[in-house]
Amino acid sequence: MRTDTARPVRLADYRVPDYLIDKVDLVVRLDRHETLVRARLTMRPNPKGKAGAPLLLDGDGLNGKLVGIDGTPPAQDSFRIGPDQLELFDPPRQPFTLDIETTVDPTANTQLMGLYRSGAAYCTQCEAEGFRRITYFLDRPDVLSVYSTRIEAQRSDAPILLGNGNLVETGDLADGWHYAVWNDPFPKPCYLFAMVGGDLDVLSDSFTTMSGRKVGLGIYVEHGKRDRAAYAMDSLKRSMRWDEEQFGREYDLDVFNIVAVSDFNMGAMENKGLNVFNDKYILASPDTATDTDYAGIETVVAHEYFHNWTGNRITCRDWFQLCLKEGLTVFRDHEFSADQRSRPVQRIGAVRNLRATQFPEDAGPLAHNVRPELYHEINNFYTPTVYEKGAEVIRTLKQFIGADAFRRGMDLYFERYDGTAAIVEEFIACFAEASGRDLTQFMRWYSQAGTPVLTVREKYDESAQTYTLELEQSCPPTPGQQLKLPQILPIAIGLVTPDGEASLDMPGPNEANGASAEEIARGVFELSGRARRLVFRNLAQKPVPSILRGFSAPVRLEFDWSEDALLTLLAHDSDSFNRWQAAQTSATRLMQASVAAIRGGGAPADPTRFCQALGRVIDGWKADPAFAALAINLPSELDLAREIASDVDPDAIRTARQHMRGTLGQMNLPALMAIHDALSVPAPFTPDAAGSANRSMRLMALDLIAAGDPAEGARRAKHQFETADNMTDMFGSLSILALNAPAEREAALAAFYQRFANDHLVIDKWFALQAMIPDGEALARVRGLMAHPAFSMTNPNRLRSVVGTFAMANPTQFNAADGSGHDFLAEVVLDVDRRNAQVAARLLVAFRSWKGLEAKRRAAAEAALKRIAAHNDLSADVRDIVTRSLA
Ligand code: BES
Ligand code: ZN
Repeated sequence: MRTDTARPVRLADYRVPDYLIDKVDLVVRLDRHETLVRARLTMRPNPKGKAGAPLLLDGDGLNGKLVGIDGTPPAQDSFRIGPDQLELFDPPRQPFTLDIETTVDPTANTQLMGLYRSGAAYCTQCEAEGFRRITYFLDRPDVLSVYSTRIEAQRSDAPILLGNGNLVETGDLADGWHYAVWNDPFPKPCYLFAMVGGDLDVLSDSFTTMSGRKVGLGIYVEHGKRDRAAYAMDSLKRSMRWDEEQFGREYDLDVFNIVAVSDFNMGAMENKGLNVFNDKYILASPDTATDTDYAGIETVVAHEYFHNWTGNRITCRDWFQLCLKEGLTVFRDHEFSADQRSRPVQRIGAVRNLRATQFPEDAGPLAHNVRPELYHEINNFYTPTVYEKGAEVIRTLKQFIGADAFRRGMDLYFERYDGTAAIVEEFIACFAEASGRDLTQFMRWYSQAGTPVLTVREKYDESAQTYTLELEQSCPPTPGQQLKLPQILPIAIGLVTPDGEASLDMPGPNEANGASAEEIARGVFELSGRARRLVFRNLAQKPVPSILRGFSAPVRLEFDWSEDALLTLLAHDSDSFNRWQAAQTSATRLMQASVAAIRGGGAPADPTRFCQALGRVIDGWKADPAFAALAINLPSELDLAREIASDVDPDAIRTARQHMRGTLGQMNLPALMAIHDALSVPAPFTPDAAGSANRSMRLMALDLIAAGDPAEGARRAKHQFETADNMTDMFGSLSILALNAPAEREAALAAFYQRFANDHLVIDKWFALQAMIPDGEALARVRGLMAHPAFSMTNPNRLRSVVGTFAMANPTQFNAADGSGHDFLAEVVLDVDRRNAQVAARLLVAFRSWKGLEAKRRAAAEAALKRIAAHNDLSADVRDIVTRSLA
């Protein structure tokens, strides 16, 4: 484990490498404890680097030797080798080779970085800096090499041998050993290296690319699980077609393999031609996976596949440019999912996720730019800001320059930078060129942290029949950035009246306060200065503004809404995102008022009118079940905490929300029961948008029934649980029982466990659900779960399902006023940190909003963080998060 003594890495300090590695020839002899790695690096001085500089190769805990320079043993005083570095004092001035041998113990590798064992397989994870745990290397993304990998193993131990690129040779060796040689012709950085050996099943298929090349596809899974890879395979083929159709990008190797493993720090990894996945994003069958799981598989398979162009063919110059591949690829997987399913549903889901993960990050001590300028530990920068805000920035760019210029810019980027390691400026320059627009100011999206606030004021002049919107932007200070400059905000606006949509009749470009003809035609207005006034004419009645349609820019919108205005939008807005948003905003305002009242000893606000309005959505559910299910899903406790932002009392929030949920259920009980009945007729399971829409509406109805009439809800949930023929129905009803019906809970949980005891992905759900139960027993329950025989401190999914869920999805109990939840997380983080620093650091991020808590809880959180900080043997990962959290 590396502990934190290293100095920070700064974007401003970037220097080209002094040496290049053109070719890497690896021979890996797999052994459970002593795997031998022989690496031949074909190197040369970088003509752009410093001539005669010493050569410093990165290592991380390595045990190895330098065997040869240009084929001859090196002089003892010409180099120095240690676990974390190999230094050549005076390397050759001409091209040369290095032969290096290392031995690694995959079984003892609990960090799950480098070469490790998972189940019946050896696998690797090299992003961001894991290759240096396999051999000494220039472990930086701007060193691109062609790799050949020869893997040797005992056939009984690892009948399957996989590497990057194309398979060139296989054969038998003495004593039951065999080998395979893989060759990847595309130069790549070492973070994209992968190899796998193991005893695995495979689902095989093929795909014919647009130019007629046949690509072999393989998904490797645990024995007996092959059938469960079918949906992932289907998603892969749809992704491959989509990238051809939407971006003109074709796959480039003879094979594309995916390996699913059950021990994985992240979701999945885009290694060239050999993706490695957390098996939760591969394995699915109707009786083990929910609709959410299916949608997750589709999106993650697509995401990793799309990296082949955005990340692999064009990679990042340095890790500060991470959003260049991640934000862009998330944007691409969002677009893919929107095309495969329902665009509005996809958009609402993405914005909910952005607000739930990125907004709190941006508003707290861990806020950073989409392109950071300094890091201590790069693993901690795979954040919602780099990913989700990074994707929003691309979407904002597309809004700003239009779809055609956007596509031309992408084409130019692929053409110009294929085979290179690029930076954000180079990417953005392609769009400036393609659109003819100056994007200098647009770059602020990458260099300013914090969520911009868009404040809008309205004025209606009845006699002149004009309606004015004053738009103004600001951005709160973030760590290290006090003053912010205006950013480019494309703001989609419509005007709504109970009679329908009002046309955007405005003064033209040459008149006062004019908008351009294009803005008026598109309904998208640019705010690039601090403020702008828009005057709309010929309005016989005062309209309601529908601002930021489709969430056209990642900002917080502030407008002094009246309840009437919001209910008008909910009923009449043609933009379904803003219809949903109107319901959310209404509910949030009411619940915020309730929280204030409850804390002052008063009664919650009266939600009658709002619940009646949602009643109309409930009555009309058939027109769009997916939308109805989203619209009646009240903002979560965490959503409310985020809006309240300071002096947050999670108990008062829960009380307020439960009150509203109860009222909503009570006021609409007959309609909800009718929906639940209507959707309870057996239907064949299809994991597509239509099927999942009905299931989610059925579960939302059941949830509100349980809120409005607990006995009736429990009865129905129990029946649904007992008769369910798919995991969505079954786990949904189990959740409703577990969270609402204490008397039914234990029996149902026990039955579920019995049935799925051998299915680790389902058991993760069982653990997670119990960690979410928000009663006073929660912490004791969580400790009990950690003592369960099926619990594991080393499996990241299991740890996240119990500890991560408790810390991130049980706000009243994690933030218990006595500090017990905070203390518990600190204790677990310290324990996990000794084994798996990345996972420990990610659990610790649960404290990211601690400064917004009310005084007592805030003090408890601070004490817990300080207790962690007081340890002097922390990993670099945890040290970094705890230091920034406390700053
Ligand atoms: N390149 C990442 C995986 C990764 C992240 C490796 C951090 C090492 C450190 C991969 O492309 C990715 O982004 N995976 C996401 C899922 C994706 C759908 C957003 C993940 O693993 O969470
Ligand atoms: Zn990615």
